[in-house]
Amino acid sequence: MTNLTQPALEKLLELARQAAQHSYSPYSGFRVGAALQLTSGKIVTGTNVENVSFGLTICAERAALVRAVSQFGPKIRIAAVAVANLNGLASPPCGACRQMLAEFILPDAPMVFPAADGARTMTFNEMLPLGFEMKLK
Ligand code: THU
Repeated sequence: MTNLTQPALEKLLELARQAAQHSYSPYSGFRVGAALQLTSGKIVTGTNVENVSFGLTICAERAALVRAVSQFGPKIRIAAVAVANLNGLASPPCGACRQMLAEFILPDAPMVFPAADGARTMTFNEMLPLGFEMKLK
């Protein structure tokens, strides 16, 4: 796991919780926040934004990712991720978000997220061991 102190991870989790306050989730009522720690030291947050055409909904993790690239450019690298929700439920990042994160995240970046038994931390590699890649010859 990349070096990030426990207090730094807890701060990231708190920022994810704060981001969840901005959730636009009138259809599910599920309020999610994500915070990305970049290798530059910057932190970028995001929240879920739903749509009446449900499939158009954007998860908190992807909102944060798109915001990070938009703000700091395509060379960003993600050193840690925190996810929180205000519903007191487990919410490991969905598969689509893991695949999107794969482009920018360090393989051993810690990801902390709400699990059934409280906050759980796993490395990105553990969360997405065999993501899609396309290496054309
Ligand atoms: N959601 C996230 O924000 N992140 C995830 O990893 C999974 C689900 C959101 C999408 C939707 O607004 C709500 O949670 C219920 O699925």
